[in-house]
Amino acid sequence: MRIGFLGAGKMAEAIFAGLIRNQIVPAADIRIREVVPQRVRDLRRRYHVGVAGTATELVTGCDVVFLAVKPQDLDVLLQEVAPALTTRQVVISIAAGKTLTQLQKLAGPRVRLVRVMPNLAMMVGEGMSAFCLGRHARPADRKLAARLLGCCGRAMELPERHFHAVTALSGSGPAFFAYALAGLADAAVAEGLPADAARLLAEQTMLGAARYLLETGMTPQALMQAVASPKGTTAAGLAVLEASPMRQILGQTIQAAAQRSAELGRVAPKPA
Ligand SMILES: NC(=O)c1ccc[n+]([C@@H]2O[C@H](COP(=O)([O-])OP(=O)(O)OC[C@H]3O[C@@H](n4cnc5c(N)ncnc54)[C@H](OP(=O)(O)O)[C@@H]3O)[C@@H](O)[C@H]2O)c1
Repeated sequence: MRIGFLGAGKMAEAIFAGLIRNQIVPAADIRIREVVPQRVRDLRRRYHVGVAGTATELVTGCDVVFLAVKPQDLDVLLQEVAPALTTRQVVISIAAGKTLTQLQKLAGPRVRLVRVMPNLAMMVGEGMSAFCLGRHARPADRKLAARLLGCCGRAMELPERHFHAVTALSGSGPAFFAYALAGLADAAVAEGLPADAARLLAEQTMLGAARYLLETGMTPQALMQAVASPKGTTAAGLAVLEASPMRQILGQTIQAAAQRSAELGRVAPKPA
């Protein structure tokens, strides 16, 4: 199986590094097409991936094609490669906000499409990707998408109508968790903790809490109860959170991000 990447930036690298690391495909079966020459040299040296001279050449020689350029570069690129796309390839777009309808229109009426909303943590193998299938994708494409995306984190299929909420929660989410982490660490610094110690304590605690929930299947509520002994330190902190408008603020945060995602989706793409 030959896998191609149109655009070999941060996200493309995260995905193909995961594919190579997990031995899903050998590096020799990965092709990139990237416009920044220094980047091409660097990636070829570090990963020994193949390099296509043109986007059309890449598409012609691959079974799976990742669209990994910025959303504003996607329309022109997809129009360029559309004549070379057949029902042979699966086309996987990771471009934020580009809908299946928009992609299908540009790629061609019968092209097998998968739309993905990935996140930044893919770069450290802990990404969260949601994906949905286009109307011509085959059942095997579902398994393939889950396997390829799963090599740099977790992947789940969701109907496209949920993608604004997904964008808000897991797409923008790393920034919201970082905000909470910075606030908690700064408060500990105010208690006299050195800044570098506070940062490590906060980061590892966030990682540990998430991993604990994932691995035990425990609910967040049960975890809170398990940590908080009556009249103890955790109970004292949780009481402040419960008495505050924190839940409402978190709700507004997700709502604003999801709403913005919907607004951006309504902006008509610039003519090519
Ligand atoms: N980064 C994230 O956290 C994140 C999260 C969710 C979704 N995404 C999506 O992932 C996609 C890739 O993001 P990224 O952060 O990896 O972007 P990136 O680092 O900017 O990578 C894109 C690369 O593609 C190159 N490029 C532009 N036009 C091209 C063309 N016609 N042919 C070949 N290469 C071309 C760009 O070159 P130039 O720099 O010269 O333009 C750049 O090197 C985006 O669509 C984004 O919406 C990213």
